[in-house]
This record gives sequence, C-alpha cells and structure tokens, in this order.
Amino acid sequence: MNVFYKMYCRTFQAVLKQLIKLMPWRKPELLRFENGAAGLAGFIKGKGINSVLVVTDGNLMKLGLCTPMLEALEKEGVKATVYDKVVANPTIDNVEEALKMYHDGGAQGIIAFGGGSPMDCAKGVGARVARPKKPIPKMKGILKVGKKMPPFFAIPTTSGTGSETTLAAVITDTTNPEHHLKYAIQDFPLIPHYAVLDPSLTAGLPQKVTSTTGMDALCHAVEAYIGNSNTKETKAKAEEAVKLIFTYLKRAYDNGKDMEAREHMQTAAFDAGVAFTRAYVGNVHAMGHAMGAKYNTPHGLAMAVILPHMLDYYGAKIYKKLAKLADVAGITGKDDEEKAKAFIQAIKDMNAYMNIPENFGGIIKKEDVPEMCEAAYKEANPLYPVPVMMGKEDFAKMYLEVLNG
Ligand SMILES: NC(=O)c1ccc[n+]([C@@H]2O[C@H](COP(=O)([O-])OP(=O)(O)OC[C@H]3O[C@@H](n4cnc5c(N)ncnc54)[C@H](O)[C@@H]3O)[C@@H](O)[C@H]2O)c1
Ligand SMILES: [Fe+2]
Repeated sequence: MNVFYKMYCRTFQAVLKQLIKLMPWRKPELLRFENGAAGLAGFIKGKGINSVLVVTDGNLMKLGLCTPMLEALEKEGVKATVYDKVVANPTIDNVEEALKMYHDGGAQGIIAFGGGSPMDCAKGVGARVARPKKPIPKMKGILKVGKKMPPFFAIPTTSGTGSETTLAAVITDTTNPEHHLKYAIQDFPLIPHYAVLDPSLTAGLPQKVTSTTGMDALCHAVEAYIGNSNTKETKAKAEEAVKLIFTYLKRAYDNGKDMEAREHMQTAAFDAGVAFTRAYVGNVHAMGHAMGAKYNTPHGLAMAVILPHMLDYYGAKIYKKLAKLADVAGITGKDDEEKAKAFIQAIKDMNAYMNIPENFGGIIKKEDVPEMCEAAYKEANPLYPVPVMMGKEDFAKMYLEVLNG
C-alpha cells in the first residue's frame, strides 16, 4: 500500500475520531415486549400513529412470525401496509418498492421486522422518505442523509447485525446488473427511534442462522475492539458482547428453545452494535460485503469464515487487545501472545462446533478477485481505523490463498 495514502488514511481516521465526538449520538429507546412484540401496537397507537409500513421478508410471513403483531395492530385500529419481498442482502429495488407502499398506504411510521436484511431495507425507506429527491446511491457513505426519518421501530428476529441500534443500512446496488455493489449508508438519522427486543421471536431460528448471525455479532465486537477508534463505552460493550457470545452462542445453537441463551444472544448482538456503530468494523466486513454483492453470500457466514483468518493475518499487532478479550472469555495463556492465539483458536473451534467451514471451498472465482478487492479496498479506506491497513494486493492474497483453502 502506498505510504503517502496510508498516512492520509490514518490522518483522516484520527480527525474523524475527534469530530465524531461532536456529533448527535443517540441510542434507540429500548422497548421489551413478549408474545411476538404484540404490545408494540398499543404503544404505537399511544403515539398517535394510525398507519404504518411493516417491512419484513417472505419467509417470516410464511412462518407467521409477524402475525401476533399484525393482529394487535388491527385490534388497535392501526393500519398496517406490509412489504414482505425483502431479499437477503437487500437491494435498491426492495427499498423503492417498499417506499411506494409507504406513500400509497399513507404510512406515518415504519416497523422493521426481521433480521438485518428487512431492518436495513426499512432504513433505506426511512432515508428516502426523509430525502425524497436523493436516490440511494447518492446516500452511500457517511453523513449523506441529513434529515429525520419518520418514527422507526426496529424488531430484530436474528441476533447478529445490531442494526436495531446502529446508524448503518447496508444496501446492495443492482443498478448495473454486471457489477453489483454492496455498500453502507451511515448517518445519525438512521439510528432507529425504538429497538423492540423480544427473544421469543428468535426461538425458531434455524441452527445455521443462529450460528452465522451469532458470529456476525462476535465479528462486530472484535473488529470494533481491535480498531483505533474505541471509547470507554465501546470497549465495555464489546467486552460484554464477547463474554455473552462465548457463554451462550453454542447453547442457543444446541437448543434453540433455551430462552436464557436466546435472551443473552439478543443482548450481545445489541451491545456489539452499540460498540461498532461508534468504533467501526474493519477489513473482515469490507471483504464480506464484496462477497455478498458478488455471490450473495450470507453476511454472517462470510464474517464467521473470514474473521479467524484476518486475526491470524494481523498477528502481533493485536495480541495485547485479543489477550484482553481472551481474559473476558475465560481463555487462558501464559502471556499476551499465547492468550491471543488461544482466542483465535477458540473462534475456529466454535466455528467447527457449529459446522461452519474453514474456507469457502473454492466458490471464489479467480477472475472475480480484482473486482472484489477494489470494492473491499474502497470500503475499508480511508474510513476503517483497522490495526493493519490493507492494499488491494493484500485483499487479493486473503481472498485467494486463505479463503479458498
Ligand atoms: N445495519 C447494520 O448495522 C448491519 C450490520 C451487520 C450486517 N448488516 C446486514 O444485515 C444483513 C444480514 O442480516 P441477518 O444476518 O440478520 O440475516 P437476514 O435478515 O438476511 O435473514 C437470514 C434468514 O433468516 C431468516 N430468519 C430471520 N429471522 C428468523 C427467525 N426468527 N426464525 C426463522 N427464520 C428467520 C430470514 O427469513 C432469512 O431467510 C446483510 O445484508 C448485512 O450486510 C447490517
Ligand atoms: Fe456484520
């Protein structure tokens, strides 16, 4: 990587770290309901909202997960217009279709119901309501929304992305069918006004989704923690999330109906979201987003597979911080290096326990690598305050040599 560009990036990150302290940080108000978040209906009615857009996906509708809430909304006399066509790695088309339904239905607020995909699509709708003349590609990057969303209620049904508390919406731009791009819109108005937590909604998560979304949450906590833009609060939240994930993820994986484990995993995902929304993610996310755009790889799976490889690659630079996380997770060693290596091994072991592969088994095509490197490089630089900055050639090495096994 060019040494002058590297200096520019580090300066950019240091300046942003100071500026960000002056920004309008807020957290969503936490609401806890049971029975499929049905209690939200009365709360919404109490706010004087008579019509909402519900953004979800077809699978969740089929499973009937939203039914108790939709029935409760009807009972309260709140009109619900449901958009349920969100795909994994949600697209601009999803956002635009849902936006039309928001306006056609005369909605006054948005309920995002689902995993990161419906939540991010709903945030895209909120951003477009706020900025009707600004298309999604023009909002890519940081601080491009700039105006308030309508009242926004986020109900996570996976325990991973933390989107219910973050300022990010990750959208796939399919404008050019040959070259899909996946990028984040990051601005303060995208922080949901309300995060509605009901662990019972996650009880039916299939094992594969439990494992990969849980590893996404771990990746948020770890990438935030090893980056250079931590605050006291982001460090504490990341540590708390790591502790909870090491204690409860395998339990939730083994028995989805273990509600203690489910509840703690929901908290872990939320805490990890609080950590990374302020302290950023890093190169693992940059690589994973490029794979999501190219191969539609589920986000959590990409994170789970790439994370230990990247931590190995960072090497001695992160031993001290990983040693602290090892302490938090109850992993022992005689010095920082040994603890850090044991922590990485524990991540690999957790992946293996949950049947997550060590690599992508050759799905990455050699001819696609330059395009993905370009996307990952642009996402990571200059924004992410990562412990080791990576040039395109470094990303290429990771994609090819490490990830294909
Ligand atoms: N905004 C952010 O801060 C942020 C952070 C990380 C990731 N993301 C984005 O979030 C998206 C991934 O979200 P995700 O990992 O939550 O997956 P997802 O929303 O794509 O859902 C994955 C699958 O799980 C199913 N599912 C969800 N909840 C279920 C439940 N309770 N029971 C049964 N099935 C259920 C869905 O129907 C879907 O088939 C990606 O696009 C990623 O880039 C956003
Ligand atoms: Fe993530």
